[in-house]
Amino acid sequence: MNYNKKTVKDIDVAGKKVLLRCDFNVPMAKDGSGVITDDKRIRAALPTIQYLLEQNAAVVACSHLGKPKGEVKPELSLKPVAARLSELLGRTVIMAADVVGPDAQAKAAALQPGQVLLLENTRFEKGETKNDPELAKQLAAMADVYVSDAFGAVHRAHASTAGVADHLPAVSGFLIQKELEIIGGALANPKRPLVAILGGSKVSSKIGVINNLLEIADTIIIGGGMAYTFAAAQGGKVGDSLLEEDWKDYANEMVQKAAAKGVKLLLPVDTVAANAFAADAQSQVVKTSEIPDGWQGLDIGPESVALYCDAVKDAGTVIWNGPMGVFEFPAFAKGTEAVAEALSQTSAITIIGGGDSAAAVQQLGYAEKMTHISTGGGASLEFMEGKELPGVACLLDA
Ligand code: 3PG
Repeated sequence: MNYNKKTVKDIDVAGKKVLLRCDFNVPMAKDGSGVITDDKRIRAALPTIQYLLEQNAAVVACSHLGKPKGEVKPELSLKPVAARLSELLGRTVIMAADVVGPDAQAKAAALQPGQVLLLENTRFEKGETKNDPELAKQLAAMADVYVSDAFGAVHRAHASTAGVADHLPAVSGFLIQKELEIIGGALANPKRPLVAILGGSKVSSKIGVINNLLEIADTIIIGGGMAYTFAAAQGGKVGDSLLEEDWKDYANEMVQKAAAKGVKLLLPVDTVAANAFAADAQSQVVKTSEIPDGWQGLDIGPESVALYCDAVKDAGTVIWNGPMGVFEFPAFAKGTEAVAEALSQTSAITIIGGGDSAAAVQQLGYAEKMTHISTGGGASLEFMEGKELPGVACLLDA
C-alpha cells in the first residue's frame, strides 16, 4: 500500500469548505452525564483544524461516536465534543442537529471562512457503516474538499471515511500524515534492530500482526495472556491460565517460522501466577511451563522482565502492542511497567500501538517518554498487520 499521500498542505483550501473527518470517538463517563473522560483524540485533531482556519477555510467536521447502529441515540450525540472543541479552539463550534439532514445542510451552506461546524454522529445514519454511496454524496455536497484526519477509523470503509473520497479531492490532515510517517516508516524501513513487543490476551487477535512482523522484525517478544497458548503448545503446564486450545498449532508454527527466518522469538520463562483473577489474589512466581492447577498466569515474572528489558536496550526501533499482564491490577502490572520503563530509557524510536498498550503507558506515567503513541486501536493493529487501510487508500497519492 502506498502511504505517500497528499496532505492538506498540497492543496489550496483558502475560502473553501472543507469536510474534515476526525476520530472524535472519545471515552465518555458511564453515568450518561456527557463528560469526556479523555480528550486526547480531540486535541490530536487541533493542528489540522487550526491550520485550516488560518488558511481561511470553513470547516465542516464530522466523526462517529460509539456504535449507535444507524439509530439516533442521544447519549451518543457529539454535542459534548463540540463543547470541548470550542474550549480548546477558543472559538464557537456550531453544532448541527443531524448528519446530512436539513439542519446540517442549512448550517453548512451558511458557514463562513474561519467558522467550524460539527455534524452529528455519522453513525446515526444507517448508510455510514455500509459505505452507502448516497450518504457519501450527501456528505460531499456540503464541501469543496475532503480532508481525513481520523487515523483511528482508517481501517473502516465507511461513507465518511472512504466513500466520500469518490466525490471530492481527498487529502490527509496532519495526524494521519504523522501516523503514516512514523508507523509506516518503522514497518517499511526501520532503524534496526527492530524489536516488536506483542502482548494482550489472545493469540487469535494477534495472528496477523505476528505473521507480518515475522517478516520485518529482528526480535519478537511475547507477553500477556497469549504467552500461555505458546507455553502449552510447547508442552508446558499452564494451570488455569488463558489458553486457546485451537491456536496451539499456530503458536508452534510461529515458533518454527521465527527460527527459520532467524527472528529471535522471546517467550516468558517465568510468570506471576495468581489463585484467582482478582486484584487481591494470592500470587507466586513460577516457571511459565509449570503453573500449578488452580493457578493462572497474570503477569510475566522477574526473569522474563530482565530478559525483555535487555532485548530492548540496544534496539533501534521498538513497536509495542498489548500489555504484558493484567496491568489494571497493581499486583500484576510490574511486567508492563518494567517494559514501559525500559522503553522510556532506550534511545530507540518507540512506537506504542493504540488501545490497551497506549492506556498502560499513560496510566503508568511514561507517555511523554515515547516517540509516538498511536491514536488508533484497531487501525494501528491493522496497519501493523500490513493490511490495506481503506481510509488511507482513498486519499490522493502524493
Ligand atoms: C476506535 O476507537 O478504535 C475507532 O474510533 C474506531 O471505532 P470502531 O471500532 O467503533 O469502528
